[in-house]
Formats: sequence, C-alpha cells, structure tokens
Amino acid sequence: MSTPKPRLVIYGTGQFGGYITRFALDKGWPIVAAFNRAGPKIGQDLGRLYKLGRDIGVVVQDCETADFSALRGQADIGVVVMSDQLTTNFGAYERLMKAGLNVICHGGESYFPFGSNPAIAPKIDELAKANQVSFSGGGIWDMSRIWAGILVAGPCTELRSLRQTSITDAQRNGLAQMLSIGVGETVEEFTAKRVAKAGPTNSMYKTIPQQVLVGLGYTPTAVREKLEPVVFDQPIWCALLDKELTAGTSVGTRIIAEVDTAEGVTASAHIELRLFREGEVEHMRWEVDGMPHTRIRIERDDSSHFTCSSLFNRIPDVIAAPPGIQELYKLGPMRHTALA
Ligand SMILES: NC(=O)c1ccc[n+]([C@@H]2O[C@H](COP(=O)([O-])OP(=O)(O)OC[C@H]3O[C@@H](n4cnc5c(N)ncnc54)[C@H](OP(=O)(O)O)[C@@H]3O)[C@@H](O)[C@H]2O)c1
Repeated sequence: MSTPKPRLVIYGTGQFGGYITRFALDKGWPIVAAFNRAGPKIGQDLGRLYKLGRDIGVVVQDCETADFSALRGQADIGVVVMSDQLTTNFGAYERLMKAGLNVICHGGESYFPFGSNPAIAPKIDELAKANQVSFSGGGIWDMSRIWAGILVAGPCTELRSLRQTSITDAQRNGLAQMLSIGVGETVEEFTAKRVAKAGPTNSMYKTIPQQVLVGLGYTPTAVREKLEPVVFDQPIWCALLDKELTAGTSVGTRIIAEVDTAEGVTASAHIELRLFREGEVEHMRWEVDGMPHTRIRIERDDSSHFTCSSLFNRIPDVIAAPPGIQELYKLGPMRHTALA
C-alpha cells in the first residue's frame, strides 16, 4: 500500500524555500501554499520566483494578511525556512499549528528548542499539543552532527566522553549567512558584536552535544558555550567580498561547547564556520572515548542541497510523530526519498 504524498506549505520563500519547492515538484508532493513577509515576492508564482520555466499555480501570499484557516484539512505540514531564532519564527509556528499543520523548521535553534531557548520552548510544545500536531527542527545537523554522534556510540559497552570537531565553509550559503558569522570583521569588532553580547550563532551549537547526550540516555547538568573569532596568520582571498582579508582579520567563528552529565559522561564540540584554505573539505568528525574507541568522519559536498534535503526527507517522520516538540533523536535515523 503506498502512503499518501505529504501536502506542504512553505513559509519563507528565500534561497532554501527554493530547494524545498524543487524537491516537492520532483517527488510529486503537493505544495498547497507559500508565504513570505511583504516585499517583491508577494503575488509571484513560485515557478516564476524560482525560475523553473513555468508557473506551478502557487502564488506567494503575505503572511500578515493571508487566511491561514483556509489551510485546515488541505495541508499536512508547514516548512518554515526563514530565520534561525525561535522567537522570530514563533508567529509562523502559531499560524501554521493553529490551522492544524505539523511544523518542520530549518532554523538552527529549532533542533533542540529546550536547550536553545528554554523560555519559548514550552510555549511551542504547548501550542503543538493543543493543536494535536508535532514540531521538529531539521537540516544538515540531522545526519551529519546529531545522528552521527548517536550511531558512533552505538557499539560502546563503556562511554567516557564524546568529542565533535568540524569545519564548515562560510561561503557555501551566500553573503548574508557569511556576514552573520563575522567574516571580514576585526577581532575587536567580532568581540564587541558576538562575544560581549549574544550574536546570531549564540545558543545554537551547544545543543549539538547536548542533544546527542540526551539521545544516548544521559542527563545534562551543565552546558557551556564560548565563541571566538578564527584568524589566519596569512592573508586569504574572500570571493563573496571580492577582496583579500589581511592576516589577523576574522575569517569566521569558532564555537567551543561542553556538556556535563549527571552520569559523569561528557561531550564537547569544537566547531569552525570559516573561510577555507585551498584544498580543505567541509567535514564533521565525532570521536568516542569508550570501549570500543570509535571515530566517524562525514565529508559534505554541496551542503546547501544537503541541508535542504535533510529537512525535506524528515517531513514524513514529522507528520507521523506524536503531538509536541519531537527532537530528531526521537525520530530515528533519517531515510532517503530517492525511491519516492
Ligand atoms: N538548519 C540548518 O542546519 C541550517 C543550515 C543553514 C541555514 N539555516 C537557516 O535557514 C534559514 C533560511 O535560509 P535561507 O538561505 O533560505 O534564507 P533567505 O534566502 O534569507 O530566506 C529567508 C526567507 O524568509 C523570509 N522572511 C524573513 N523573515 C520573515 C518573517 N518575519 N516573516 C515572513 N518571512 C520572512 C525572507 O523574506 P525577504 O525576501 O523579505 O528577505 C526570505 O524570503 C536561515 O535562518 C538560515 O540561517 C539553517
């Protein structure tokens, strides 16, 4: 028996909304509606907006004026691809869930809402339960950071600590996302904007080791996160800025996160989001200090596709999940849609 195709709503018709649109069209998953904030995208057909060479019959609506109640019974899930912050996205979650839609969100904070924003997470959970729908984060961390950590610890009979290290190419997702991690700033600017007060990446990355430990059955007792600029001792060319950055300029952000647990097992993450030197490959590595001692390294080509397809492939799991926040560790390993 074939399962019904998920019926989608896209909330945020930017770069990644385009990937979701193309994947849905390829798989024949209906796109019921699309929303964005006011601006030139409103009133455009998604096919025209994403240069697909044809209209697809879905016109972008202004999220402030649209009638969300019309979605009830017509769509299964809202795909929110708009901002990393739960507070910014909350209005979208509210509109979609009140219309009876499950929500999957691409925002970095949505992977583990109780860890990234403990004030708003219970509100999202209550909203989902009250409307009998589920909520989950999704994207590139799913398989490459979260499930990789859970799976690599699987064969252990003893566990002392887990350590993640990674490098991510700052230029992979365009100028806006590159600037949001401090590329091109002086060390003083970086420190004032991102260390002295919370910047856009604060509160997200620490939830990776946190979620992995929770997924492995441990109870985190303390979570620490530190941000610092990454600097090279040689100049480097930045294509998106179309200029050379002198040695000592920030080429991105380093996040160092540490988690302690009641059981004594610890996890850490040493994550660099930065410009790449010639020949470097985006990768993520977990090392488990236990019995057996284990390592896994995942290399990522085409990470824009990777993050959106990870989000997309989770859609059936989120629709099938029980009401409330469902973190990825509860959903089982992700499955491909290549046969769909
Ligand atoms: N989960 C992950 O692992 C992961 C990985 C990479 C990126 N991300 C995140 O994914 C998100 C989407 O990225 P993107 O490259 O697609 O961004 P984008 O191209 O800027 O698209 C965002 C879209 O959302 C719209 N929007 C912004 N705020 C809105 C609001 N308050 N109400 C309604 N619409 C709003 C924007 O409208 P305008 O046209 O008016 O700007 C734009 O169309 C970003 O937050 C990014 O950091 C997550």
